[in-house]
Amino acid sequence: MSETLANLSSETRQFPPPEQLAADANVKADAYDEAAADRLAFWAKQAERLTWAKKWEQILDWSNPPFAKWFVGGELNIAYNCVDRHVEAGRGDKVAIHWEGEPGDTRTITYAELLKLVSQAANTLTDLGIGAGDRVAIYMPMIPEAAVAMLACARIGATHSVVFGGFSVDALATRIKDADAKLVITADGGYRRGKPSALKPTVDEAVAQSPSIENVLVVRRTGQEVAWTGKDKWWHETVEQASPEHKAQAFDSEHPLFILYTSGTTGKPKGILHTTGGYLTQTSYTHNAVFDLKPETDVYWCTADIGWVTGHSYIVYGPLSNGATQVMYEGTPDTPGRDRFWQIVDKYKVSLLYTAPTLIRTMMKWGDDIPAGYDLSSLRVLGSVGEPINPEAWMWYRENIGRNRTPIVDTWWQTETGAVMISPLPGVTATKPGSAMTALPGITADVVDDQAQSVPNGGGGFLVLRDPWPSMLRTIWGDDKRFIDTYWSRFGAGAGSSDEGWIYFAGDGAKKDDDGAIWLLGRVDDVMLVSGHNISTTEVESALVSHPSVAEAAVVGATDPTTGQAIVAFVIPRGNVDTSGDAGEQLNVDLRNHVAKTLGPIAKPRQIMLVPELPKTRSGKIMRRLLKDVAEHRSLGDVTTLQDSAVMDLISAGMKTTK
Ligand code: PRX
Repeated sequence: MSETLANLSSETRQFPPPEQLAADANVKADAYDEAAADRLAFWAKQAERLTWAKKWEQILDWSNPPFAKWFVGGELNIAYNCVDRHVEAGRGDKVAIHWEGEPGDTRTITYAELLKLVSQAANTLTDLGIGAGDRVAIYMPMIPEAAVAMLACARIGATHSVVFGGFSVDALATRIKDADAKLVITADGGYRRGKPSALKPTVDEAVAQSPSIENVLVVRRTGQEVAWTGKDKWWHETVEQASPEHKAQAFDSEHPLFILYTSGTTGKPKGILHTTGGYLTQTSYTHNAVFDLKPETDVYWCTADIGWVTGHSYIVYGPLSNGATQVMYEGTPDTPGRDRFWQIVDKYKVSLLYTAPTLIRTMMKWGDDIPAGYDLSSLRVLGSVGEPINPEAWMWYRENIGRNRTPIVDTWWQTETGAVMISPLPGVTATKPGSAMTALPGITADVVDDQAQSVPNGGGGFLVLRDPWPSMLRTIWGDDKRFIDTYWSRFGAGAGSSDEGWIYFAGDGAKKDDDGAIWLLGRVDDVMLVSGHNISTTEVESALVSHPSVAEAAVVGATDPTTGQAIVAFVIPRGNVDTSGDAGEQLNVDLRNHVAKTLGPIAKPRQIMLVPELPKTRSGKIMRRLLKDVAEHRSLGDVTTLQDSAVMDLISAGMKTTK
């Protein structure tokens, strides 16, 4: 970490906002003062952006920390706020979604059409016996029906659990079981890398293991052959035949909206629970503030998948609650060619683009001449999310995509925070390449040392959030204790020192520079960030040891120029396993595929090292720090606590001989 810190402190470039953008910005510098003067009043004002059926009686109830209640007593319907009210205000003909399929087919969906689809889907869900509080799993490609399904659940008060379409049978089944879901909404498949990629067979296998599922609703996207079971219903034979009339009923501000699973430091993923009023308030406010959204003229495009929190907050709830016009793209950035993104920006005149550092670095690798061939003059604000963006990638984004004109907003947040927490404001902040800068108005972020003491400017430590915020997670589904242990027990009152207040531990390392700007330094726990996705070392280790040839495994995230971190596994084969020559190579391939099959392709290790031993402390704890040194080709750090220091020589020797 010290090397990173030293590099970052030498970064002196700074980019003030363009004058015109600053003058016309939705949010100006006074927002910080306003929020600092009265944080709760500030958030109450932002909640007024929404249409409430019944106004709240109390802004925040923090009498039972860390269990927060926001806008207590208030009632609203999320789908009404995202769809109906725009139609009622005469904006029914405005385009909500410009959808671009990977093969080049397109759909244009206005807010009036979206209202019809969401109402029909809500009626169908009700017909299938889904009511308020029931859980619905959504396992979909990036097609408009994915957003419709989420909004239909929200409309009837059902809690959705979207599972990323790239996840395996096991991952889907675990999530269905944990939430006790009654329905799965899926598709036959979606297009990826130029061909149909099936989803239904994964659902069939997962449903076979999940007795709670009563029905499966299937959208026909690719037309590929699908097996059919007694639980299956076609979307076009149900939803598309249903009545388009549906009156949205209001729900309590704290009604559960969705569960989204994220990797933890132990094997089982954590079901992060978000609720209604506070979540929509903060996603709506931040989408407006951070992107400076002008709903009448902007075309917004977030390249995330709906299976991640970015897709929830900044494809569905934030943009639609603001009445935005947005692009939604089904496929991969290199199909049919590596210019696909820039072709889309040019075609739809995208003005606000939100993407991830891993994609920016990939585009950098592909070459400057690819974006140079396109008219990108429509772009006004560029966003980044998911992992730290290194200054080189930031500068490349600014120069080659923003053409040195557009501000970059590097937005730090998490599945748990629900919405952006630390980010520049495009009309206010003079940005520094690689820094997420400062907490948004109404948010208190800090960097603290081991003792929860705020570090001075120039210092590094742990990123924490000091005050509750509207879109904060409310708990881990079914596991309040784990919620407290994971996020609230490291520092402050949750750790037992009652005078310190409750302090949220984000699990990220960070530094404050001399001006107090925040630089994120990656995870400090056992979670790896691979292409911006959270994957826990324990999950991959469990997948490896479930293979019959593996005795023991240790996994680390190694710095990778494209994906941020890459998964590197050290595996001790069982005694009877032949690892010589071709057999060893084959085992390596089998193990990588085994992990991909168990957890999904994104968890496939970049590299597996077959080793005779793992470095352990005298108490038997694996010293991942040393393995990380090996994986990153560094000289070894302190090995004095190793039980047997010769182990590292064995491993390093093994490294040189294994690919
Ligand atoms: O380590 C931080 C990193 O992503 C983690 C959260 O991952 P997830 O819950 O999957 O949500 C990703 C999308 C919001 C954080 O703990 N992270 C996210 N954004 C940034 C970031 N790290 C540095 N800079 C960012 N802008």
